[in-house]
Parts: sequence; C-alpha cells; structure tokens
Amino acid sequence: MTIAIIGAGMAGAACASQLTQQGQQVRLFDKGRAAGGRMSSKRTELGYLDLGAQYFTARDEGFIAQCQHWLRDGSIAQWQGRLGRLEKGAVIASPDNTLRFIGVPSMQAPVVALLKSAALHTGCQVDRLAFDGKGWQLFSDGISLGVFDQLVLAIPQQQAEPLLREAGVIDTELSAVFTMPALLPCWAVNLELASGPWPYDGIFGNANSPFSWLARQSSKPGRCNGEQWLLHFGAAFSQQHLDADSRDIAGYAIEAVQQLAGQTLAAEMTLCHRWRYAQQNPLYPRYGMLHRPELALGLAGDWLNGGRVENAWLSGVQLAGELVR
Ligand code: FAD
Ligand code: NAI
Repeated sequence: MTIAIIGAGMAGAACASQLTQQGQQVRLFDKGRAAGGRMSSKRTELGYLDLGAQYFTARDEGFIAQCQHWLRDGSIAQWQGRLGRLEKGAVIASPDNTLRFIGVPSMQAPVVALLKSAALHTGCQVDRLAFDGKGWQLFSDGISLGVFDQLVLAIPQQQAEPLLREAGVIDTELSAVFTMPALLPCWAVNLELASGPWPYDGIFGNANSPFSWLARQSSKPGRCNGEQWLLHFGAAFSQQHLDADSRDIAGYAIEAVQQLAGQTLAAEMTLCHRWRYAQQNPLYPRYGMLHRPELALGLAGDWLNGGRVENAWLSGVQLAGELVR
C-alpha cells in the first residue's frame, strides 16, 4: 500500500511513524519549511522563541510511553516552570503536580524525531487532490506529486475542507464534520520587558482576561535568555481582532502586561504571529479520527480529538491502526 500523508505536525508524524513500523510505504508533504506544525519555535538572533504550543502533558498510557522514549533520546525535557494564575486581577501562585514537557532545543524536536527515517517533502503545499474511485493523485502548483493507494489528511479542518470539496468527495458524513469550525484563532505576541516583575515562568489568564497565557521563554532549556515573554490572547479576543494590525495587537499585549504588573513597564514587541487555526472550539464534537475505506481516505488531527498535542498524537496513531487493519 502506498500512503500519502498531507501535514507533518504531531498527528501526521505519529501516523507516519506507526505505518512505517508496520512496513507501509509512506510519503509526507508539508507546506512548512520543517516538520512540527503548530509545535513551533521560531529561530531568531536571540535564540528560539516558542510561539505555538507551549508545553504538553501526557495522560494516555501509550502517549506516556512515547514521552519516555523521547525523554531518553533527548528530544523532549520536563519543564518545571513556576506557575501562577490571575485571580481577581492579581497574579497568585498556582503550583501543581502535573508533569509538563517541551521539545528541546525547539518545540518541533519530538515531531522531527518521529520522522527521522520518513520520506518527508517540506515546502510543498498540496493545493489539489483528485480521486479516481481507487486512489488519489496529489498536486502542487500544477505539478503531480504522485498517485497513492491511500490518502491521509493531517491538516487543520478549515484547510482540509476546500481540498476535499474541490475533489468532489464531500458526502453527508464528511459534510457533518465540516459544518462547525473546529479550530479558533490565537494571536501570539512576544515581548521583551525591561524587567520581569513576576516570580513566575507561566501565568494562566482567566475567562475575564483578554490573554490566556503568559510565559517566560528563558525558563525553557535552549530558548532565549533575558526577559522575553510570550503572551497568547484567548479565542474570543483573537476572533474579535482577527484582522487587526500586528502593531495594534502588540499594543494590547503591552497594555495587558502592564495591567497585570500594576505598573508601567518598558516593553517592546519582538514577534507577533496570528494563528488562524489554533485552539479547539469547545463545542466541536470529538471524533478521534475519521476513516473512510471506500474513499481510501483518512483524517487525523488534534481538531478531531479535543485539541492538545497528546490528542493529535493519539488521533494519528488511531488512524494508522485503522489503515493497517
Ligand atoms: P498541525 O500542527 O497544525 O499540523 C498540520 C501540518 O499541516 C502543518 O505542519 C502545516 O504546515 C501542514 N499543512 C496544512 N495544509 C497543508 C497543505 N495544503 N499542504 C501541505 N501541508 C499542509 N497544545 C498543547 O498540548 N499544549 C499547549 O500549550 C498548546 N498551546 C498552543 C498554543 C498555540 C498558539 C497553538 C496554535 C496551539 C497550541 N497547542 C497546544 C495545540 C497543539 O499545537 C496542537 O494540538 C498540535 O500541535 C496539532 O498537531 P496536528 O498535527 O493536528 O496539526
Ligand atoms: P494543563 O493540564 O497544564 O492545562 C489545562 C488547563 O487547566 C489550563 O488551560 C488551565 O486553565 C488549567 N490549569 C492547569 N494547571 C493549572 C495551574 N497550575 N493553575 C491554574 N490553572 C491551571 O495542560 P493540557 O491539558 O495539556 O492543556 C494544554 C494547554 O494548552 C492548555 O493550557 C490549553 O489552554 C493550551 N492550549 C492553547 C492553545 C492556544 O491556541 N492558545 C491551543 C491548544 C491548547
């Protein structure tokens, strides 16, 4: 069986790794410069800055075993950031016993490790699909990327939908999966502060704060030194300001940080990034993954399985199991 996987984020990589171990021939295509998807640290002259996923946790037995493997091969490390949370307008300590992991030296490292021996084509955006009733042909910029027995889409819902619609395979079952948006946006802003006024490395916002998360980059091994702080705005704020100018977003981030500190802080934007498809819509149903044998098609991704890195991995592994069955 020849299998094409579009998307080399955690879900696509987990699926590819399982299929390869079972002796299947897999080729992956990703439009990014490297594998990782939303697990992404940006390389800057200051060092790596985490703009997407901040850390991940492991609850499922299989994923715990996978994390132990990554810990042994050095592609992840435990992050023991001191945690705080916003309560009644003030930041208070909020420690817990949860194990949290990060990729080292950058967030994409565990995805890269899964794809060590994979046939991965980066910088390759698949923009057209054709299904002839038996197999799939993939195209990028008018050029055929090959014909495959099976197709796996491991890309965000809103990016999968137009590809499948144009291929003419969206029936009632698939239509239901695409009715409600599964992923909501997130604005990410990295600020350089003159000083870090909190004795914390990660601060959770709450339902009343525009931001959902603020973190000190230097608390993570391999990242930037100094007072580089990453702020994530919540889904409501990000949706409302989806088309705003990044300078305005940076202004809101500085305002939020100053309000949190209760003082005027010298702050400058280092990076600003809009994630259009970032976090799970809490109202979206949980499918796990989707397998349509008669269409030689599988769909995997965090969005089908409740969001989060662990759920992306589980979705990819579950789909691989279905495909080989
Ligand atoms: P993705 O990582 O999105 O991978 C999809 C891949 O498909 C991408 O690499 C993309 O380039 C590629 N692609 C898309 N379309 C095409 C195409 N047409 N052709 C070729 N390639 C294509 N999770 C946590 O557990 N903890 C966190 O702290 C956390 N924080 C987050 C913060 C932010 C700002 C964001 C955005 C996400 C965060 N997440 C977090 C969620 C986590 O990053 C995701 O759950 C997980 O990385 C999703 O993996 P995936 O493989 O399903 O999708
Ligand atoms: P987790 O168990 O650390 O966090 C889950 C949620 O529990 C947090 O969002 C927070 O509200 C709460 N929480 C956990 N520990 C806390 C503490 N010590 N003090 C106060 N509140 C605490 O991690 P899990 O379940 O693996 O989730 C991953 C994280 O990724 C979550 O924080 C989630 O919001 C975030 N995420 C963000 C996205 C974005 O686009 N910004 C996308 C996907 C996930």
